[in-house]
Amino acid sequence: MIKLALLQLGLAAASATAASEADYSAVKDGKLGFISMPLTRRENKRPSLRARDNDVPLYNQTSVSYLIELNIGTPEQTVKVAIDTGSDELWVNPDCTTSGSVDLEQDCYEHGQYDPNDSSTSTVTSVENYIPYGKGEVQMQYVLDNITLSDSTLEISQQIFGVAVASSELNEGILGLSYGMDVNLDYPNFVDMLYLQNQTNTRAFSIALGSKDTNIGGTLIFGGVDTKKFTGDLKSADILGPQNGEQLARYWVNLTGVAFTNDGDSSAYDMNTVPVVLDSGSTLSYLPEAIVADMATDLDGEWDRTNELYIVPCDTAEKTDTMDFSFGNDITIRVPMYEFIWEAASDICVLGAIGISTLDVALLGDSVMRAGYFVFDQDNGAIHMAQYANCGENEQAIPSDGKATDFSGDCTEEDAEDIINGDTSSGSGSGSGSGSNSDSDSQDDESGIGALTGNTGAAFILAAAVAFSLL
Ligand SMILES: *[C@@H]1O[C@H](CO)[C@@H](O)[C@H](O)[C@H]1NC(C)=O
Ligand SMILES: *[C@@H]1O[C@H](CO)[C@@H](O)[C@H](O)[C@H]1NC(C)=O
Ligand SMILES: *[C@@H]1O[C@H](CO)[C@@H](O)[C@H](O)[C@H]1NC(C)=O
Ligand SMILES: *[C@@H]1O[C@H](CO)[C@@H](O)[C@H](O)[C@H]1NC(C)=O
Ligand SMILES: *[C@@H]1O[C@H](CO)[C@@H](O)[C@H](O)[C@H]1NC(C)=O
Repeated sequence: MIKLALLQLGLAAASATAASEADYSAVKDGKLGFISMPLTRRENKRPSLRARDNDVPLYNQTSVSYLIELNIGTPEQTVKVAIDTGSDELWVNPDCTTSGSVDLEQDCYEHGQYDPNDSSTSTVTSVENYIPYGKGEVQMQYVLDNITLSDSTLEISQQIFGVAVASSELNEGILGLSYGMDVNLDYPNFVDMLYLQNQTNTRAFSIALGSKDTNIGGTLIFGGVDTKKFTGDLKSADILGPQNGEQLARYWVNLTGVAFTNDGDSSAYDMNTVPVVLDSGSTLSYLPEAIVADMATDLDGEWDRTNELYIVPCDTAEKTDTMDFSFGNDITIRVPMYEFIWEAASDICVLGAIGISTLDVALLGDSVMRAGYFVFDQDNGAIHMAQYANCGENEQAIPSDGKATDFSGDCTEEDAEDIINGDTSSGSGSGSGSGSNSDSDSQDDESGIGALTGNTGAAFILAAAVAFSLL
């Protein structure tokens, strides 16, 4: 979900400061900044997809979320939230009745709700805030409470987060993983607190979403990397400052090129470098119209006027072609067609990118991110990337004097080819295991939500479950 920049009158900032004296004492350097989200921008409207030949809505387009489980309060109350690199705040308790469908509503209730009145460690503040996303919005009240993650020793004391008082079109709470204190927010968010309370050595976390075609959940590691989830070295793309006239820090990087590789022949699309946000909370990617139109031409896409996206033949997803995204000279993530094409309903396949005008925020969502391994490194101002592969598990903490780029992937090129060719069955078997013997080689196939493989020294690893919520 992309959090939209909005005009803000400093109300929340002012009252949060008032509430802060006692509440923020857990923060070691206790410095409060200011909220800076001053400009409005146009909403990226996500249409509901309709059948081409009639006007009956088939389903709504918001399909896949990556969820983790949080235990909040004393005694613990369990809720599931979507991990989201496109926004920066944590909140819970969506209004399920506005989810959009009976199924989504049911899903929403199953994600759980948190009641601060039932927790002896909660503090309810009078501070409220409003967050609009690309789709959906929430009005929330700030609460402080302790948070743990299942099956781990992780414990955050007195995290500040939102409890929704009203929301629309959101069927799950959101764990925003973007910049917090002193950058976008005047309080430490979840990523900040992990660092400030010495649970991680660095404000960095890594994400392998995992393939959409398997039950294998993705892996999110706060303060660490899993070297058996990628091949080659991690290469760094500098995070850009605010773009599009916003004053919001986001995970912007330069997308320098896109190419289509068809039967081994690669042809680059004609384009200028474009800043894009890496957004794990978005199913599809949003790119300049001209590039998307060229992709559609190559993939025999047909413009669907009603839904404003391209429908492509479903057998495209079976081809071994790739859409290749470059971030500077030495980083290219090759996205297999079966990841890039979204089978939105039986026999209806959608191109994984939607065209936008230059006024909109361009972003790479899950349709691209599933093909890569990404370390979001706030401390070094870079996203470190590599081609996703899966050859087991070797989770390592990034030391306080080290960098994510000190680690290289344990998987072979072949492991990555297997994924690109849609052969995800080989899993841990073919791993080269070059020298790392802490390898538990456990397939991370715990489909349980928030299945947590533990604390490997200042790093927390969770297997995020994939929830499909198609209508
Ligand atoms: C899709 O969502 C919109 C609101 O986002 C809602 O008005 C519409 O009824 C939904 N469609 C279906 C088929 O549920
Ligand atoms: C918690 O208690 C307060 C005061 O008793 C009440 O106003 C509020 O509605 C309660 N909140 C919930 C979620 O029940
Ligand atoms: C939980 O919150 C209370 C404050 O209400 C605090 O004293 C305590 O240390 C926190 N942490 C744990 C692990 O209970
Ligand atoms: C974190 O570690 C630092 C340095 O070791 C220490 O000074 C600080 O008190 C610790 N903070 C917490 C919240 O434990
Ligand atoms: C991003 O691209 C722009 C335009 O080509 C360039 O001026 C800028 O230096 C690039 N920034 C980084 C960090 O690569």
